Amino acid sequence: MMLTGSKVELFTEDLRKEIDQWVAKYPSGQSQSAVIPALHILQDANEGWVSKDIMNALAEYLGMPKIGVYEVATFYSMYELSPVGKHKISVCTNTSCMLNGSEEIVAHLEQRLDVKLGETTADNKFTLKEVECLGACCGAPMLQLDRDYHEYLTTEKLDKILDGIK
Ligand code: FES
Repeated sequence: MMLTGSKVELFTEDLRKEIDQWVAKYPSGQSQSAVIPALHILQDANEGWVSKDIMNALAEYLGMPKIGVYEVATFYSMYELSPVGKHKISVCTNTSCMLNGSEEIVAHLEQRLDVKLGETTADNKFTLKEVECLGACCGAPMLQLDRDYHEYLTTEKLDKILDGIK
């Protein structure tokens, strides 16, 4: 389902319910504390990304300044501000991963998918991203494929992972 336009009313009742469950976890008047999970909910409902209109509508819904939503959405690499492929591959290239071979992992992905970091494959199946530490340094080199972490990567392991995706 695509959410377009700039009105809160564009959120479906189900989405509002989901967001409200998070809002209810915080003290009264602190709705904006739910901005992180709310962005996840809206991103999932919008094919993996959040538009400015969606962020504006969320700001209105949570009663917070628009800039507050933009700050969160632009700070964390887990949010996408433009359309992405069906599957998102986020490769960590921070210190631990770099020291354990992330360059080779990136090169293999770029070659196999025929894209560069930051790009989406022609069939719209994969978006390849470079990200900062994802907190799984002990499993370096690692990547996140959609919601799953894959650690101790080798090019062979990577091929198996990609082959397993429909
Ligand atoms: S450095 Fe890659 S997960 Fe921490």
